[in-house]
Amino acid sequence: MARSTEQNPEALQKSIDLMDTSPSSTGPDPAVRERVEALRARINHANYLYYVLDAPEISDAAYDAMMRELRALEEAYPELQTPDSPTQRVGSPFLTTFAPVRHRVPMLSLDNAFGADELRAWEERIRRALGASVRQPIEYICELKIDGLSVSLTYEQGQLVQGATRGDGEIGEDVLLNLRTIRSIPTRILPAAPSPSPSMTLPLITPAQHTVPPLIEVRGEVYMTHSEFARINAEMEEKGERTFANPRNAAAGSLRQKDPKVTASRRLEAFFYAVGACEDCQFESQSELLATYAAWGFPTNPNVRVCANLQEVIAFCDEWADRKNTLPYDIDGVVVKVNSFALQRALGAVSRSPRWAIAYKYPAMQVRTRVEDIVVDVGRTGALTPVAILTPVAVGGVVVSRATLHNAGEIARKDVRIGDTVVIQRAGEVIPEVVEVVTEARTGAEVPFQMPSRCPACNTPVVRPEGEAVTRCPNADCPRQVLARLEHFVSRRAMNIEGLGQRHLEQLVQVGLVRDPADLYALRKEQMLPLERMGDRLAEKILQNIEESKTRPLSRLIFALGIRHVGERGAEALAAHFGSMERLSRATVEELALVPDVGEATAESIVAYFASPRHRQMLERLAAAGVRMQNALETPGQAAGTAGPLSGKTVVFTGTLQRFTREEAEALVLQHGGRATGSVSKKTFCVVAGEKAGSKLEKARQLGVPVLTEEEFLQMLEGPGQASSS
Ligand code: IVH
Repeated sequence: MARSTEQNPEALQKSIDLMDTSPSSTGPDPAVRERVEALRARINHANYLYYVLDAPEISDAAYDAMMRELRALEEAYPELQTPDSPTQRVGSPFLTTFAPVRHRVPMLSLDNAFGADELRAWEERIRRALGASVRQPIEYICELKIDGLSVSLTYEQGQLVQGATRGDGEIGEDVLLNLRTIRSIPTRILPAAPSPSPSMTLPLITPAQHTVPPLIEVRGEVYMTHSEFARINAEMEEKGERTFANPRNAAAGSLRQKDPKVTASRRLEAFFYAVGACEDCQFESQSELLATYAAWGFPTNPNVRVCANLQEVIAFCDEWADRKNTLPYDIDGVVVKVNSFALQRALGAVSRSPRWAIAYKYPAMQVRTRVEDIVVDVGRTGALTPVAILTPVAVGGVVVSRATLHNAGEIARKDVRIGDTVVIQRAGEVIPEVVEVVTEARTGAEVPFQMPSRCPACNTPVVRPEGEAVTRCPNADCPRQVLARLEHFVSRRAMNIEGLGQRHLEQLVQVGLVRDPADLYALRKEQMLPLERMGDRLAEKILQNIEESKTRPLSRLIFALGIRHVGERGAEALAAHFGSMERLSRATVEELALVPDVGEATAESIVAYFASPRHRQMLERLAAAGVRMQNALETPGQAAGTAGPLSGKTVVFTGTLQRFTREEAEALVLQHGGRATGSVSKKTFCVVAGEKAGSKLEKARQLGVPVLTEEEFLQMLEGPGQASSS
């Protein structure tokens, strides 16, 4: 459904003429006023259906006609123009009602540990990082890992003023109105009489510790109980609506409702367990935080235990392996945290996960089903992956209909045949896999699978180098590979270009407009409009998103290239170490091997990537399009590998800082070998600008001095290269 935007002046004139609404000194006819209001209401409704519900009810042509008519009327009667008219929404046509909210302190995620050995390895890493000996006990706290969605509530002077989803960890969505419908969430923190501790294991909180801070981000998990999930699904089924796959989806879907009344009609619950920004807070430990939250009236989960050592932690995890099935809600593991906040601070975070906490996951859920067929997927590196098409089956609340068989060797080892009954398993977010064949269930009619000798997408003969498990399509122009590379490039964790879905990419590749990521930056609106499911506004939005992606951090771009073996972490380490694409592209295998998280195979694959003229040429085009090719702070002449990131440099802070006080900021600079000064000159290394920054920011821009947000500044100090040397 392509949306046409062609003007049709005749139709417009007709609309105005029909109403006989010639402008007069007494103002517009009431009929015009009414018509304008009716058009606005209908356009707003159409926008909501289209952008929020993704369920449009009118054609694009009808929508465009309404917009044109409204615009014409507003032009003819300027007195009827209002700032909230849909015509005034140019530039931000996406009507998601959930405004973006920047978290004052990022919301991190957790690394996983499967089994006791991985917990021990984690403790080992902690000891090493702390320089603690084996004899020094570390106190932990175990909490259930609630399977819902995390939210951050901001309280100012004890009043709930903001509520947001996690989003990408930095920026979430404002869902305050919906959160307010959750009855268990306090709208104001009451330093009332001490309530009993929610668990024996938590400390008693004295009224003095109840003092409500002037500002605090209280964080936790919104979830739905099994019974509420069943109730809602039954209701939706009755209405012929699509049901939710599991309680977590139901909770997420309910919280992101545009109409708070709908959220209110679904009973959501919450537990709180973490803190973001906090002014004048003196919590000394996680157990104290939990006890205080409980005393302040927040729902906290009673099933927590302070453990004197890792042995006790393992016992807690074992205990809950079975007990979890008796809970009225889903958990997806146990979160183990170092209890002391001082130790937590000393441990810090790597990438997006804190070192001081880990998610203990229970073994995957397994079920039996039948292999209907085995098909072959072609990935972005040309790898052919056999995939089992299954009789759909629910595994832990998610319906699974495909499972990876990894490669030909795995199929042979497990002897999976078409028609077999197999055990499949799903663990967390990973792709479901076939564990084994139930050979007793064989009838003799099962058909063995053969890897194709030609690529199913482009018919090129496949290759399987000696000693390698993976069969590949060697044709870099293979349409499936091209598409998979583009999908990866635009994906959320890479360049995060929203709106460009698989179907759009497929068409762009098909018509030959896009062959590689650099082509995306040359796209023009006229070229996009003929695509299916593309409208004027969507095309504009996509082009704007493509434009915005040019400033993604270098690490994202490196990850987005899809170099074999280079994951998110590796990309971050590479960006921190080399600082620019230019230097990375010139690195030798030996130089690459010095980077943390980069092994030999990765190093070789990076060198091979940059050796390809095709890749070099693509990178040149990306650079020419204005895509950022270096870390925010890199200035051309800067040598890599100086001691501290700020050694010998001056930094200027300006505006209102949110993440630290001026003193703290200046101390940080000192700690990293630099100096904080008050005036900007050409020699200033960078300016860190908070809110309402004024003349200094202006000057920095004039002089071409890099300007950083507080987050970027912290990221620079805490970059992977930095963390590894501490
Ligand atoms: S602590 C810095 N505690 O798990 C870590 N997270 O994978 C902050 N979650 O995004 C999280 N129960 O949504 C923590 N007791 C708990 C939790 C918990 C559930 C979720 C949370 C977080 C995710 C991390």
